Formats: sequence, C-alpha cells, structure tokens
Amino acid sequence: MTGSLVIVGTGPGKPELMTPATEAALAGATDLVGYGPYLDRVPLRDGQCRHASDNRAEIDRARQALALAASGRDVVVVSGGDPGVFAMAAAVFEAVETGDAAWQALDIRVEPGVTAMLAAAAETGAPLGGDFCAISLSDNLKSWTTIERRLKAAAEADFVIALYNPASRARPHQLAQAFDILRSAKAGATPVLFVRAAGTSEATVIATTLAAADTSAADMRTLVIVGASTTRKVGRWIYTPRSERGAVS
Ligand SMILES: C[S@@+](CC[C@H](N)C(=O)[O-])C[C@H]1O[C@@H](n2cnc3c(N)ncnc32)[C@H](O)[C@@H]1O
Repeated sequence: MTGSLVIVGTGPGKPELMTPATEAALAGATDLVGYGPYLDRVPLRDGQCRHASDNRAEIDRARQALALAASGRDVVVVSGGDPGVFAMAAAVFEAVETGDAAWQALDIRVEPGVTAMLAAAAETGAPLGGDFCAISLSDNLKSWTTIERRLKAAAEADFVIALYNPASRARPHQLAQAFDILRSAKAGATPVLFVRAAGTSEATVIATTLAAADTSAADMRTLVIVGASTTRKVGRWIYTPRSERGAVS
C-alpha cells in the first residue's frame, strides 16, 4: 500500500497566515519532512515523526519524502511561505523526474501558501498593484550571470521587482551589485522597500529610493521590493497604480 505526499508552505510566519488546507494536511500527516526552522513553526502532534534537515539538502530531502510516501506513510513536506516559490515543490518534482519510476504514480498534492512578497507588499500598501516579477538573488542553484541578465531585462521592462534571498552571510555584496544594474535602467527616485519579517509581529519596513538605498538593511529575513516608474507614495503608503498615469521620469 502506498501513502501520500502533500507539499505545503507555512506562510510568512504568523499562524493566522497559514491556510486551513495546510493546517488540515499537517494534522493528517504521519511524517513531516523539512528544514528545521520551518518544522519548528508546526505544532507538535503525538505519534508524528519529524525529519529535519539542512537548508541546502533540498533534493535529498525530497527523495527522503518520496521514499517514505512510497513505503506507505502520509508525508507532508514543509516549506516557508508558498511551497512553489523558491521552495520545496520544484525540488520534489525534480526528484520525481530523476528518481524511481514508481514515484510518478504516487498521490502527490501541492497546497498554496502566502508567499513573502505578498506579505511584504501588504505591510507597505500595494506596491505590486501593476505588473511585477520575482527574482531570487541566490546563486546557489543558478549562475550570477543569469541573475544579472534577468535583473537587466526586468528593469528595462519597467516591472516592479520583488527580490528574494537579497543577502546572506555568504553573499553580502550581491544586493549592491543588483542595485547597480537596476540603476542603469530605473530612475534614482524609484521607491525601494526593505521589508523584514513580513507577516509576523516583528515586521519592519524601510522605505527609501534606489539612489539612497543602503544594502546593509537586508538580511535573510528581508524581502526587497523595487518599484516601477509609476510606483509612488501616498501618505505613509507605497502603491503602484494599475493604470500608467504619473510615471516618474
Ligand atoms: C528560500 S526563499 C523561500 C521563499 C518562500 N517559499 C516564500 O514563498 O516566501 C527565502 C527568502 O524569502 C524571503 N522571506 C521569507 N519569509 C519572509 C518574511 N517573513 N519576510 C520577508 N522576507 C521573507 C527572504 O528574502 C528569504 O531570504
């Protein structure tokens, strides 16, 4: 008898931002698989096994979850935010593609979650009100050349850009390099938001401009939003109108 595998995201941090469908999946699991700090957000339940692993071991973690499900366990793979956004859902399908052919017949389901960019936008107004894109600045799984090319294209296309993984101890300088690329196509007055711990009780927002942005404000718990030419301030809020009115030149 085979089990099941559900891939969930716990949301940005506040328990209220975890969806009821995710809570139900977690309550029904025999085994939870995930990065330790994300598993710590899930209430302990009697009889449930936890398999915590290192942040970088994504494919190994996915294979472990698939093997458990194939052995008859009801497994939930736990990510932060949404599981499909720079997280475990893609790793699970990559493991299915490259692993045991029988895994393709498993009962696998993905539950959506509230991703950091949506929680960060809500802390500040509506900066994602127009067309936007999301780019991860982590070069663990792709080259910095690819990241530079995408930043340039997104800036030239005048997207609002949500930057995930803007900085870490191992990558302290990449955000400054990213801003240099964005400055070549976006005005210095373009709003920039550093939102730390969005969707938690510790949330903080720094609203600045592309010309003045201090990259030391970003760490691994920060989401950076760089505006489009129409993104602007009203009172203490930042928003991007859905129309093209009032572009900053
Ligand atoms: C590996 S990505 C995972 C994203 C996650 N799957 C999601 O949908 O939010 C980790 C990055 O997401 C961002 N992040 C996650 N939670 C956040 C939060 N509560 N506030 C701000 N940024 C957050 C940070 O940029 C962090 O470095």
